[in-house]
Amino acid sequence: MAAICAAHGTFAPMEKSVLGLHLPTDPRWVDLAGKTLEDILTDHAYCEQKAATSCISLIQRYSDREVLVNEVAPIVTEEWGHFRLVLAELQRRGLRLGRQRKDEYVNALMAFEVKGGAEEDKLLDKLLLCALIEARSCERFKRLSEGLDDEYLRQFYRRFMESEAGHYTLFIDLALTYIPEDKVRRRWKEWLAHEAAVMETLEVRGDRMH
Ligand SMILES: [Fe+2]
Ligand SMILES: [Fe+2]
Repeated sequence: MAAICAAHGTFAPMEKSVLGLHLPTDPRWVDLAGKTLEDILTDHAYCEQKAATSCISLIQRYSDREVLVNEVAPIVTEEWGHFRLVLAELQRRGLRLGRQRKDEYVNALMAFEVKGGAEEDKLLDKLLLCALIEARSCERFKRLSEGLDDEYLRQFYRRFMESEAGHYTLFIDLALTYIPEDKVRRRWKEWLAHEAAVMETLEVRGDRMH
């Protein structure tokens, strides 16, 4: 995963170890056999919708940060395009977009964001949260591209994986645009540790979120 998902950006020296060693596998995506294709595609569709929504929120909140606005605006289009591709795939197969499930994983991650304090720290957390979710998406799509029985869908997910690969580093690069590198690295490590703890809690509870 790391070789593909961490192929871009300025974090090259630490990416491999960070992504390879510290990101455990999201329990929601392990047991493919226990899910219907409708569930997988529905979850995926909302994952794309949330990515688009978070990008729009970033632009609304940081409208004065020109680089951020310019970099993130095309991602909104891209993520919404992904949503539409997944929707089309559901419909092509006679399946329906189900309701959005409660995403305990993302909720638990969001709880780690700083609430008060300096504006810079809040911006950093928002960007790193986006980076983390993108890195995770990339891993999920890799898993699907390898684990699904249907050859067409394996290709389908391979293309998503490649497309998401650049997003993770885009958010890290944006953090580095506005915030000193040592601070970004320090906080990224804290985020990864938090994510690992979240994964452990969800696994201990046997929570598949479905
Ligand atoms: Fe996407
Ligand atoms: Fe993305």
